[in-house]
Amino acid sequence: METEQKFEIEGGCELKGEIKVNGAKNSALKILASVVLTEEKIVIENFPFIEDTKRMLELLEELGAVIVKDVENKKVKINPEGIKAGNLQGELVKKLRASILLVGPLLARFGEVNMTYPGGCVIGKRPIDLFLDGFQKLGAKIEWNDDGFKAIANKPKLIGTTIFFSKITVTGTEAMMMTAVLAEGKTVLKNCAMEPEIKSLADYLNYNGAKISGAGTPTIVIKGTEKISAGTFKVIPDRIEAGTFVMMGLLCKSEITVTDCVPEHLGAVLPVLKNAGANLEVGEDYIKVKKGERLKAVSISTHEYPGFATDLQPPYTLLMTQAEGISLVHETIFEGRLFFTDQLNSMGTAIVMCDPHRVVISGPTGIYGKKLTSPDLRAGITMVLAGMIAHGKTTIDNIYQIDRGYEDIDERLNLLGANIKRV
Ligand code: EPZ
Repeated sequence: METEQKFEIEGGCELKGEIKVNGAKNSALKILASVVLTEEKIVIENFPFIEDTKRMLELLEELGAVIVKDVENKKVKINPEGIKAGNLQGELVKKLRASILLVGPLLARFGEVNMTYPGGCVIGKRPIDLFLDGFQKLGAKIEWNDDGFKAIANKPKLIGTTIFFSKITVTGTEAMMMTAVLAEGKTVLKNCAMEPEIKSLADYLNYNGAKISGAGTPTIVIKGTEKISAGTFKVIPDRIEAGTFVMMGLLCKSEITVTDCVPEHLGAVLPVLKNAGANLEVGEDYIKVKKGERLKAVSISTHEYPGFATDLQPPYTLLMTQAEGISLVHETIFEGRLFFTDQLNSMGTAIVMCDPHRVVISGPTGIYGKKLTSPDLRAGITMVLAGMIAHGKTTIDNIYQIDRGYEDIDERLNLLGANIKRV
C-alpha cells in the first residue's frame, strides 16, 4: 500500500539484453470486473501482480469472492459465488478509478449498487457521467448522496437499448459492454473506444457464452443472455509497457529486445518512432531496439486507439527532449497529463507549456539528476527513464504510483543494466 519508499537512480547506464512484457494492467482490471457477471470460478493467466490489480482483488474479496494467488506462475484463481450484493463503499474504492467497472456487472446481477466516488489518478478529475448515463439508459435509477450514489435497476432485469457515447471512453465502453451481457434483449453501443483490451474482453465473454459482436470497431452489438459461464483467460501483453521499454532503449542509446509483446497493439507509436529515425526491428512478438543516429524531433497528438496512446505520451515527451529540433506534443485526452514536464525542466530540459494540453519541446538538452515526485504512474515511469539518462543521481518519491502499473520495475530494469535502488 502507500509507502514512503523512494527510487535512487544513477544515470548514464548502457542497457543490453531482453525484457519480457507483462500482462496488460488495463486488460486484467476489466477481466477482474467481469468475474461478478457469473458464479463460476475463473482462472486468469499471465496476470500482472501490480498495485492496481492487487487493489481490485482486495475489492472482490470485500464483496465476497474467494481468491487464490499464484504469483510464481502469474496466475490467480477466483471463486465469485460468495458475492451476494453490490456495496462498493470502502476506502479501496477511493484508491482505484477502475472500481467503477464493478458497478455495471453488480447492477446486472443484484439490481442495486451503493458506491462512493472512485479515486485513482490525478491526471484529470476523471468524471463518471458517461457511466451513469449508460446505466440510466439501461433502465437503472441513480440516487445521489453526499459521498457517492446508489444505482437501482428498477426492473427485474436491465433492458437492452442503444447508447451513443458523447465522448469516446475506454472503460465506459467496457462497462456498458459487460453490463449489457445480462440485460434483456439487444444493446447497441455507438462511438465506442477500439483499444485492444476491449476486443480481448469481448473475446473472453463470448468464449463463456456472451453474444458480443463488433468489439474493436466503433459499433458494438450485445445480445443479452440469461447467464454466462467462466473459464481460463490469458491476459494480453501490456502495450504500454512495450512502448515504454522501446523508448527506454532509444533514450539509453542501447540495444535491447522487448519480448512477448504485440507490436500492432502499439498503433501509431511505432510509425512515429520510425519517422523520428529510430532503428527498430519489429518481429511477430518482439521489438528490437538497435543503435542509430540521434532522433529527429517529431510532433504528435495523442488519440484514441489506434492513434498515439495517451499513456505513452509522457515517455515520448521525454524522448523529444533528447531529439534534434523542435516538437509539439498535443495531449488531447486528459487535461492533467503534462504537468510533470516542470519536473523534467528542473533536470535541464527545455519544455514550454502553451496550455494544459500542449507543450513545445526543443532538444537535445543536457539532463541532470534531481529530486522528483511521481504524480501518476505514466509520469512516474518517465521520471525513472529520465533518471537513467541523467548525469548524476536522481531520487523519485511517491513510487506507489509507479508500482501501480509496473511489476518489480527496478529489478527488471537492473537486469538490463540500470542502476536503480529501492530505499
Ligand atoms: C482508460 O482510462 C485507461 N485506464 C487509462 O489508462 C487510459 O489513459 C485511458 O483509458 C485513455 O486511453 C484503464 O483502462 C483502467 P476514458 P479511462 O474514459 O477509461 C472523459 C493508465 O495510466 N470521460 O477513455 O478512465 C475522460 O475525462 C490509465 O493506465 C468523461 O468525460 O479513460 C477523458 O477526458 C490512465 N466522462 C476521456 O473521456 C466519463 O464518464 C477519455 O477517458 C468517462 C470519461
